[in-house]
Amino acid sequence: MRDEFDEPQPAIETTSPATEVAVAEAPAPLLAKVPAGIQLLNRDFLTDVANIPDGSIDLIVCDPPYGLGKDYGNDSDMRTGEDFLAWTRAWLELAVPKLKPSGSLYIFCTWQYSPEIFSFLKTKLVMINEIIWDRRVPSMGGTVRRFTSVHDNIGFFAVSKDYFFDLDPVRIPYDAVTKKARSRKLFEGSKWLELGYNPKDLWSISRLHRQHAERVAHPTQKPLEIVERMVLSSCPKGGRVLDPFMGSGTTAVACVRHQREFVGYEINESYCAIARERVSAAATPPVSRRAKAKTQRPTEVQ
Ligand SMILES: C[S@@+](CC[C@H](N)C(=O)[O-])C[C@H]1O[C@@H](n2cnc3c(N)ncnc32)[C@H](O)[C@@H]1O
Repeated sequence: MRDEFDEPQPAIETTSPATEVAVAEAPAPLLAKVPAGIQLLNRDFLTDVANIPDGSIDLIVCDPPYGLGKDYGNDSDMRTGEDFLAWTRAWLELAVPKLKPSGSLYIFCTWQYSPEIFSFLKTKLVMINEIIWDRRVPSMGGTVRRFTSVHDNIGFFAVSKDYFFDLDPVRIPYDAVTKKARSRKLFEGSKWLELGYNPKDLWSISRLHRQHAERVAHPTQKPLEIVERMVLSSCPKGGRVLDPFMGSGTTAVACVRHQREFVGYEINESYCAIARERVSAAATPPVSRRAKAKTQRPTEVQ
């Protein structure tokens, strides 16, 4: 079991009846503002997903409980074995019809369950990639009974072979030295040399350790860099992204930053509040943040 995310949980507020977190309902200034086109729902995905029209979503980013016993302030990660797989199949059955014909889906999971989950999804969608997220876990002892597991498995699936995919915004630029080394006559003018290379299917991106600037009070918060890569390559600008298990709102933040619409579900009210704060901060242009800070500065004593 992974323990690098283990951290004290925030106090869980008493769950009030399901509420949609939106600007209109926010009794300002207590609640952070959420921009239009972004819906952060404090609801259970499985019981509420029927409200989303079929064929209306460009991209689904699924980061569900992994079946590893994490404490999300609820018992959602306590299922194991066939119980976990049956639950996973149940919510995937509900999610997949929401995709447009050009739509696609990413699902985070572990090696323990990825074979069964991918086999199931292959009966409904076309498998495009298995992406390995190398969490850049430092080498510090660990188990002596097997090889230390340092990756998550990410399945990338599409409704059909005509799925939307735009590589250009996620290409990785070459540094000057490598670019020079590849600048042979043969490669001159090549798009890949100018715009950068394909990120490939091994993503080495550090997990968010406790001191990381991005880190908030959620035990399995995903790095923005990973989710941004999914949003930028697999959802057209202005398109609509669904996150059935939004946690601290990482996918919502990516959508705000890159002009995509978003609908996300989270049953823990405290995590919804964190998502709202993060979305609000991402929607506030840096200039107005600076101006706000200026106006809030205490008056200097002459
Ligand atoms: C792996 S975490 C998501 C983390 C998120 N990607 C982030 O970066 O913060 C899974 C989340 O799903 C939530 N959850 C579990 N069951 C749910 C359900 N039926 N509907 C909505 N959310 C649920 C949990 O409370 C937990 O916060």
